[in-house]
Amino acid sequence: MISESLLPWYDKHARDLPWRLSPRQRCANPERQFTDPYHVWLSEIMLQQTTVVTVKSYYLKFLDLWPTVHELAAEELDKVLSAWAGLGYYARARNLHRCAKMISEDFGGVFPNNEEDLLVLPGVGPYTAAAISAIAFDEPSTVVDGNVERVIARFYALKDPLPGVKGQMKACAAKQTPAQRSGDYAQAMMDLGATICTPRSPACVICPIQENCKGRKGGIAADLPKKAPK
Ligand code: ADE
Repeated sequence: MISESLLPWYDKHARDLPWRLSPRQRCANPERQFTDPYHVWLSEIMLQQTTVVTVKSYYLKFLDLWPTVHELAAEELDKVLSAWAGLGYYARARNLHRCAKMISEDFGGVFPNNEEDLLVLPGVGPYTAAAISAIAFDEPSTVVDGNVERVIARFYALKDPLPGVKGQMKACAAKQTPAQRSGDYAQAMMDLGATICTPRSPACVICPIQENCKGRKGGIAADLPKKAPK
């Protein structure tokens, strides 16, 4: 299982990102081991089409302006749109506001805790529903983004091209999803893809899952995943 060596690696090397609890926060507050769903949702919507580096300051600004989903819901759309300026894809900001209203007014401020119910929210697709349920509620949801696809393609040496191979990637990823610490596992896969299992020149020699990686064994990690010619 990937998680056996990946989680200990994550405990040491997780990127320090504002929407994550630090190990110290976890120790200090055993009641609150998982990130507030409002925080997870906000960060995941921002991260859909924007890089981690850019999202950081916007995420903090939004929480400063609107510390709770109720405050965001009560704000005028125009104010939300101007705070969003620079992040692009404004449909996301409109959906963010609609979703905040729905959570605040129809759900009593409580985010659904499973993928199926999360999927009805505006702006929340399969990836985001899985990410919120795993990270905020530790549900064993399989979270597959581009980073995870690359890690999985290499680990299993999947040689068929994208996008056809996506179903197989998802099935392999699902087999690896652990029953415990699913949120940490999801974020560890993202970190591995972003920092070690990078698109070009992956740093296999320091990779925590190199031992069982078929792509590394076959010397083809850097060539995967393949893309169908346009
Ligand atoms: N990209 C999307 N969600 C992320 C997360 N929770 N951590 C790091 N990168 C991400």
